[in-house]
Amino acid sequence: MPLLELKNVSVGYGRNRVLQNVDLTLERGEIVTLLGANGAGKSTLAKSISGLLRPEAGTILLDGAPIEALPPAERLRRGIAHVPEGRQIFAGMTVAENLELGAYASQEADHAERLEFVWTLFPILRERMKDIAGNFSGGQQQMLAIARGLMSKPKILLLDEPSLGVAPLLVGEIFRLIVRLRAQGITILLAEQNARQALSIADRGYVFENGKITLAGPSVDLLNSPDIAERYLGMGSATEVSGSASAALAGRLRDVMFPAASEAGQA
Ligand SMILES: Nc1ncnc2c1ncn2[C@@H]1O[C@H](COP(=O)(O)OP(=O)(O)O)[C@@H](O)[C@H]1O
Ligand SMILES: [Mg+2]
Repeated sequence: MPLLELKNVSVGYGRNRVLQNVDLTLERGEIVTLLGANGAGKSTLAKSISGLLRPEAGTILLDGAPIEALPPAERLRRGIAHVPEGRQIFAGMTVAENLELGAYASQEADHAERLEFVWTLFPILRERMKDIAGNFSGGQQQMLAIARGLMSKPKILLLDEPSLGVAPLLVGEIFRLIVRLRAQGITILLAEQNARQALSIADRGYVFENGKITLAGPSVDLLNSPDIAERYLGMGSATEVSGSASAALAGRLRDVMFPAASEAGQA
């Protein structure tokens, strides 16, 4: 049984349906990445899993139990932590207060232990517990946001664009951290604009186009696609490609990553 399973999930904002009939699984201990153009629905998917949005149709199973009707706090208590796009830390509060807010769903007795866990991953936070979070750099704020998510002792961490607005020097740190989290047994769903780095640490990926999954597979297959290499992963790749499967993949990915009409249609 997968740790998390979405079956035929459709969700939107008001009348505007965004995700359509999404089927997706997370197995225990995986890093799974979501790829797709801006506006494809990656953040909407993360919000549907954490409970910020309720599906209009479909079901979401955590360890086989339906959770789609549960409020966000209960999903957090059951082990789903969401680190949203744009971080959304409390800029006027201290590091300690931000971490405390992340721990509210867990047992009191766990707090000290969780803090130790977070400090081993982010030694700088230990030194800066009394500092105001808003004074941190983008990368430090992202690390604080992840640390806050970890305070709830999650089984699943939903990371939405963790490298966005982070200085290039720190981006690698964040990806290495995500690999360390997997080694700690945490299952990770990663939405990333930085597709090459995301695929290089992920086990599998899903490609979204206008709210639908158009492609899914092992990261290595997606990385070896010529179209991802040329058009989505940036310049300079010399990926070896062979076989009709890769060619078919490439043809589909061209449309997915560069939807001609997408710029005109967004509000
Ligand atoms: N709060 C919102 N209200 C209405 N529409 C939204 C809202 N947030 C996102 N959308 C729309 O949902 C679609 C998917 O957005 P999003 O999930 O943020 O995509 P991604 O994270 O892949 O860039 C877009 O068309 C976007 O305009
Ligand atoms: Mg997004």
